[in-house]
Amino acid sequence: MPLKRTPEINRGYYSRVYAIAHSVETFCRREGATAQIVNIGSGFDTLFWRLKSNTFSTYVDVDSTDVVEHKIRAIKQHPELLEPCGTLNGQSNTSNFHSDRYHAIAQDATKGRQLIDKLVNKCAINRNQPILFIFECVLLYWSEEARTNLFYALNKQFTNCNIVIFDIVNTMDKFSSLMQQSLYESNTPLLGANSTRTLEDWNQQLQRSGARHVQSWLMTEVYQKLIDQNEKSKIERIEFLDEIELLFQLFNHYCLILASNNSPTDW
Ligand SMILES: C[S@@+](CC[C@H](N)C(=O)[O-])C[C@H]1O[C@@H](n2cnc3c(N)ncnc32)[C@H](O)[C@@H]1O
Repeated sequence: MPLKRTPEINRGYYSRVYAIAHSVETFCRREGATAQIVNIGSGFDTLFWRLKSNTFSTYVDVDSTDVVEHKIRAIKQHPELLEPCGTLNGQSNTSNFHSDRYHAIAQDATKGRQLIDKLVNKCAINRNQPILFIFECVLLYWSEEARTNLFYALNKQFTNCNIVIFDIVNTMDKFSSLMQQSLYESNTPLLGANSTRTLEDWNQQLQRSGARHVQSWLMTEVYQKLIDQNEKSKIERIEFLDEIELLFQLFNHYCLILASNNSPTDW
């Protein structure tokens, strides 16, 4: 039987997906045909197929070998997934997919030099055209050192480097400690939790790594101000809540961040 999640969790997923898709669409509209998108730790995310803006030049999903192989098999089995990718090129194999517009590569993204080398030499990424790196629910598993090393390398190697992050924040209170403890017990420790205690910690980490413009919001604010009112009324009817407090308690522990080494960012 499918797992029935609580309305808070379902509204949380909805808001996270909305916030990332909105940030990517805004970037695509701003940069047009030169926009390049790289989704780090993409998992089974389907954003490439869901994007309304069709102007970007290249989209790359990056994850571990087993995840990427699984994803490539699914793409090849479904013509409706394969068709939007364009023509497949000869360098594709079971763990690397290269086509006109879409690439999926198996790569540990904490190895910055290897990652950048593959993006440029295998995925036709241009260092001097605008690029947006998505980190959705990935950095929480990395140490602060791994995270800042990669930000530094990306800001150094790409002249118009933009980053969107959905991650945890306010990690020092009881709510967060319980969440961290439960993930630790299921063998997925949140290695960076101590270094992202506040939004200011995130801002400083990004600025120290070469981002000139950084903006960050708690998901509470994103939910209240970013999500279209009609959409929100619709989901609030589907996932009805008597008590809104638990939802905001959850949202106060997640954030959306936009950073750029080139131009001011906004949602
Ligand atoms: C919680 S999932 C999030 C997936 C997707 N971003 C989403 O929001 O639906 C984290 C993903 O990051 C990937 N990941 C974690 N560390 C990674 C690394 N160093 N290099 C590449 N992928 C990584 C995992 O394999 C997993 O697929």
